Amino acid sequence: MHKISPMVERVLYTQEQLETRIAQLAELINRDYKKSKDLILVGLMKGSLPFMMQLIKFVDIDCRLDFLTVSSYNGKTHSSGSAKIILDMAQDIENKDVLIIEEIIDSGITLARVKELLSSRKPNSLKIMTLLDKKANRINDLEPDYSGFECEDEFVVGFGLDYDEKLRNLPYIGVFNKKYLD
Ligand code: IMP
Ligand code: MG
Repeated sequence: MHKISPMVERVLYTQEQLETRIAQLAELINRDYKKSKDLILVGLMKGSLPFMMQLIKFVDIDCRLDFLTVSSYNGKTHSSGSAKIILDMAQDIENKDVLIIEEIIDSGITLARVKELLSSRKPNSLKIMTLLDKKANRINDLEPDYSGFECEDEFVVGFGLDYDEKLRNLPYIGVFNKKYLD
């Protein structure tokens, strides 16, 4: 069992709250993509992994999985202002229904870049599902099609979210304790 990490100031979403909400999000996929012939869930590495793995347990329609590695943060707590594709996905998405799976949308820079890239590959549809939406920090008009929770404007960690590549393994999400900033 995980004890609450000293690097977490307060817990925002417990494991149970996350699991309940994620099961609801999976039901939305089951409903909205029931008629899809070719659904592909594209997780953004590495942060979306716990979310995606929990989500697919409850997705009961046929789908494929793929992953895209994008970097935007350089391990600190602020966006670098650009997003770079580090590792591309393996499958072709032309004529497929693509659902991007992201753990958090902050400035919106990463998703805007990913959306632009993937739409140039002519998918049948392209939507975004995010676990957390930090609306207050948005610098563009990017909106997720599905969102788990609207998150306050705090630096959060756990359940895939990192500080300097650490704390992704926490089973809950909490506010990072700024005392540990370096
Ligand atoms: P954006 O491009 O500013 O929307 O940032 C998106 C990426 O920044 C996410 O995929 C996360 O990896 C990271 N990020 C944004 N906010 C946080 C946070 O509060 N904690 C940890 N990572 C974050
Ligand atoms: Mg990150």
